[in-house]
Amino acid sequence: MAKTPLRAQDEIFALRLARSAPDLWPMLEALYGAQAGYAAFEASLTEALRKSWAARPAGLKLLDLKRDLEPDWFLRSDMAGYVFYIDRFAGTLRGLLDKLDYLQDLGITYVHFMPCLKPRPGDSDGGYSVMDYAAINPAYGTMADFEFVATELRKRGISLCIDLVLNHTAKEHDWAVQAAKGDAVHQDYYLMYDSPDLPNQYSRTLVEVFPDNAPGNFTYYPDFSKWVWTTFNEHQWDLNWANPQVFLEITKIMLHLANKGVDVLRLDAVAFMWKRMGTRCQSEPEVHMLLQALRACCRIAAPAVIHLAEAIVAPAEMLPYLGRGRHDGREGNLAYHNSLMVQFWGALATRDTGLMTYVLASHFPDRLTNASYATYIRCHDDIGWAITDEDAWAKGMNGAAHRNYLSDFYEGDFPGSFSEGTLFQENPATGDKRISGSFASLAGLEKATEAGDEGAVDLAVQRILMGHALIAGFGGIPLIYMGDELATLNDYSYRTDPDHAHDSRWIHRPVMDWGVAASRATDDAPSGRVFRGVRDILERRRATSALHAATPTRVVGTDQPGVFAVARVAPTGTVLCLYNFTENWAHLGEAWTRAQGVSGMHDALSDAPVATPGGIIALPPYGRVWLT
Ligand code: GLC
Repeated sequence: MAKTPLRAQDEIFALRLARSAPDLWPMLEALYGAQAGYAAFEASLTEALRKSWAARPAGLKLLDLKRDLEPDWFLRSDMAGYVFYIDRFAGTLRGLLDKLDYLQDLGITYVHFMPCLKPRPGDSDGGYSVMDYAAINPAYGTMADFEFVATELRKRGISLCIDLVLNHTAKEHDWAVQAAKGDAVHQDYYLMYDSPDLPNQYSRTLVEVFPDNAPGNFTYYPDFSKWVWTTFNEHQWDLNWANPQVFLEITKIMLHLANKGVDVLRLDAVAFMWKRMGTRCQSEPEVHMLLQALRACCRIAAPAVIHLAEAIVAPAEMLPYLGRGRHDGREGNLAYHNSLMVQFWGALATRDTGLMTYVLASHFPDRLTNASYATYIRCHDDIGWAITDEDAWAKGMNGAAHRNYLSDFYEGDFPGSFSEGTLFQENPATGDKRISGSFASLAGLEKATEAGDEGAVDLAVQRILMGHALIAGFGGIPLIYMGDELATLNDYSYRTDPDHAHDSRWIHRPVMDWGVAASRATDDAPSGRVFRGVRDILERRRATSALHAATPTRVVGTDQPGVFAVARVAPTGTVLCLYNFTENWAHLGEAWTRAQGVSGMHDALSDAPVATPGGIIALPPYGRVWLT
């Protein structure tokens, strides 16, 4: 790119600053305005934004411009994501370059590197305990390697997402080390208490995230006589976002990473960022103000970059992360659709889509402003049964009993269950128990394979492909978690690894089996069938522009309890996506589908006409169609 003269760069910065100023300063003023030194903080932040912009490489500034012109770049139907640990997928960052053909063969246009910044030594919660935000995990490579790979990805039209852990740092992070040594400035970066009184008061209303292996929310350190807020593990110290210096430091880090060629920042564990006595300290209004302010900073100094919020909370609590209400269009661009994931597994177990339809139709708007979902069936974390008592009750169920049933079903204990999973963080105090397990094992492939039951294997394959089709058609960016495109089973080896044995989530964080991947084109085994099935789904998604994420998503009820229906209401015509959640044939009236806006009888998913003998559409077990 030809160099734009310096003065023009300043003018562009001034324009970007002016455009986003109304989104930024009122938030910061409300959060920090009453504190001494606020004016100096504002000046430092402006200076940091200016410096980051000045340092932004020309190639990325060109991308900024391109995305100004095409703000819907991440909403298009050609977006499809793949999520992996660098070491488990490719060994190292450089090694990844040899694997890009594989990803492109699958149809991937977005990759999420699981935590890749320098973690603390030993158990690091899968890298979410970061000790240096400016360095790449040395086991993966260097920052230079990272930049090189980011550039290669960009050349291939693949967007890059990385994690930015906002709620906590590792206790080995330099700030925490200084704090532990008694440095008052850095002690104020964290939440530290001289007596247990406040921690005890807060604890009355807090929930425990890891009740099993990291109970409580505070840790006492006898060597410096303080109680430290540690929501997750002992080694993850919660940051004090009420301190404007934390905002400033993290903004600098965020923009530094943005300038290395990142497209999407996954903001980890955002719900926990603000603490308020007497509450669960999750999703407090200030969290949204902080996220809007961080978003504005990116729009000013690294405008090509978007934000993906990780807020695994109840539906009504999740939507504000996509900027609903007060922050409409100004907060996250993407957020995980946890409910869709939970409801998929719920309906699969019960063979009943009633609760799924109710929850998705009643709690979620049919469209969002400049934002969408990251849709997924499995990820690196456990499945928590985020079904509220109210929603269960609305469908005539007892919430606690239903959640319990789902855990039993997916653990595999429930009579007749096809699933093979394992429990995560059982909490005897609340009765809560979550589930770990790979997509394929939870969907029945492990049990079916062990039993040598070909029919059951086929049903499991169909369940898996239905799940992939669901997230591809729903609206948002479908994320495929490494191995799920090959129907990878549970990996039990974590049980002998001292750093992982306590954390059953490693059961679904396998090492890529490149031997299996090599025969994907021809293999008749489930791995090959699933790979080719997913590739076809993504190809058909790409070809169906009506699946653009800005196309309204309307969840509609059917008279078939086992069928889930989503109408994507595009100006060019409706795409009616139908999914059969049972192992029986399901039948729907052609007239009903026409009443939903379907004009032809074409299946965009298989790109073939749909036969309607006697005015009936027949969906095979776990069948799926995208009717247009
Ligand atoms: C997020 C991550 C999870 C991690 C937690 C704490 O929820 O997805 O893996 O344990 O944050 O950082």
